[in-house]
Parts: sequence; structure tokens; C-alpha cells
Amino acid sequence: MTGYLADDSTASAPLPSVSPQPGRGPLDKKRIRIQHLQAAKEQGVRISMLTAYDALTASIFDRAGIDMILVGDSLGNVVLGYSSTLPVTLDDMERATAAVARAASRALIVADLPFGTYEASPEQAFASAARLMKAGAHAVKLEGGAARAETVALLAGGGIPVVAHLGYTPQSENSLGGPRMQGRGEGAKKLMEDARALEAAGAFAVVFEMVPEPVATQLTKELSIITIGIGAGPYTDGQVLVWSDMAGMTSWSPSFARRFAELGRELESAASSYISAVRSGEFPGSDNYRSE
Ligand code: KIV
Repeated sequence: MTGYLADDSTASAPLPSVSPQPGRGPLDKKRIRIQHLQAAKEQGVRISMLTAYDALTASIFDRAGIDMILVGDSLGNVVLGYSSTLPVTLDDMERATAAVARAASRALIVADLPFGTYEASPEQAFASAARLMKAGAHAVKLEGGAARAETVALLAGGGIPVVAHLGYTPQSENSLGGPRMQGRGEGAKKLMEDARALEAAGAFAVVFEMVPEPVATQLTKELSIITIGIGAGPYTDGQVLVWSDMAGMTSWSPSFARRFAELGRELESAASSYISAVRSGEFPGSDNYRSE
């Protein structure tokens, strides 16, 4: 990725890669595929996943060596300014998926099926998922438990790898009563049955969001498919975070996220320096323009 009006002489020069150098581990690959993720689980190598919604961030995370990029419907909150994921459309997801796919050459790209585009029937789900795969996704993610088994089977049987999503599922926030832990007490049994049903239906991975650690740990041991946690403790096969939480882009982030930087503050400070430099006439400086 290059910036706006990049100098032609450097536009095609690749930035130095800081990603892990190719070695012999299951994830030391030029292009991550589902069998590499499966091998990582079997060998106890943890899998990293971050959301991305555009080419710029996807290229940065890909260079850093992220294993999986989730084009999450959290795009609704993070990018489009909605207060939930419910208004996100298939067009929104298709455009974001295509942008990410143009920029990431290594990570396995998972695209979320947005609310209202897969629940009515397995056929509706296949038509929606096919659009995301044509846009460049390598797999799709959908929310829900055993009720989605038939859909998962149709997609997986039709060549579309599926990531399931259990626990707190934001598209059902109205019936779940907002963001809260799922799978507590009696709920653990249901969550475990759901996970088994989705594995049997052909999902290759499952995200556990806001699930008690012992439940996620037990399922990680029991299931042969990959488990990815967010607010589910340290013992799942992989971890996923919304990138803006990970990078500290906003003033608040959920307690299960760690802020690995304070990029929001840095960006605000850069913008504020730019504004001052423009107002004072200090920018553009003599090195930013030509007289002839
Ligand atoms: O849309 C999203 O970002 C997600 C993650 C929170 C797992 O589904």
C-alpha cells in the first residue's frame, strides 16, 4: 500500500517485512490455508487473528504476520458509525472484503455474513456467502448454534469454509439483552451442544466470544476444529481482537481487549500538529513543493 500521491519512484517498492521469516512451523507459510491452521492446532501453535475493513490496515497486518484477517461486521461500529452490527449490508461487506483481499497476500481472510443475509434458509446463506467468496474471502463466518447446522453443511459441502460464532453473538444483541457473557451455569451445556453440532456440520473453526474460560478450554480440548477466543481466556487455539481495540484507537475498549498501542491519541496529535502547521504557514515547507 502506498499513500495518496506517492512518489512514482517508490510506489512499487515493497516496505520491509517484519513478519516472521519462513521456517518449518505450520504457520510459516507464504499463504495461510485451512490445513495450516489445523496443523497449528495439532502442534499447539497459537493462531493470531485481527479484524480489518480496508486495504491500508489489511496490508499492515499482513506484513506484520497476522495469520487470519476477519472482515468483521464490526465494520458497522468501527467504520460506519452505527451503534450495532445490525444495519451492515452485504454490499458493505463485499466492498470491504474486496479491499482487504487486494491488500493481503498471506493471511487467510474470513468475511462475516451480515445480519439478514443468511438466516432465512441455507440457500439464502449460500447466495450471500458466494458473493463474499467472489469478492476475495477464503471463508465466511456466521453467528448461531445448532440451528445453523444445515446452513453450515450446505456451505461446507459447496466448497465454502465456514467459521461458526458462539457465545455473545452481536447480531442477536436484542434477544441476548446486550453484550454479556454467555455459556454460564446451565448455558454451558447448550453452548457445548451447539459447538459439537457445528463441528459435525462441517465448520472448520469456531469463535467463542465472551464465554467462561473453562467452557472455552474444555471445548478447545474436545473439538478437533480450531477454536478462536475473544473474551474467552488464554487456552483457545487462537485469539481475535477488533483492530481498533488492539491499537487503542478509541478512548474506551472492552476489558477483554489489550491496548497494544495508543494510536488514536497519536493520530489526534499528528492531526493537531498538521492543523497548527497549516494555520501558521509553516507547512508546506520548502521541501514540500517546487518553484519550477
Ligand atoms: O465482527 C467482528 O469483529 C467479530 C469479532 C468480534 C469476532 O465478529
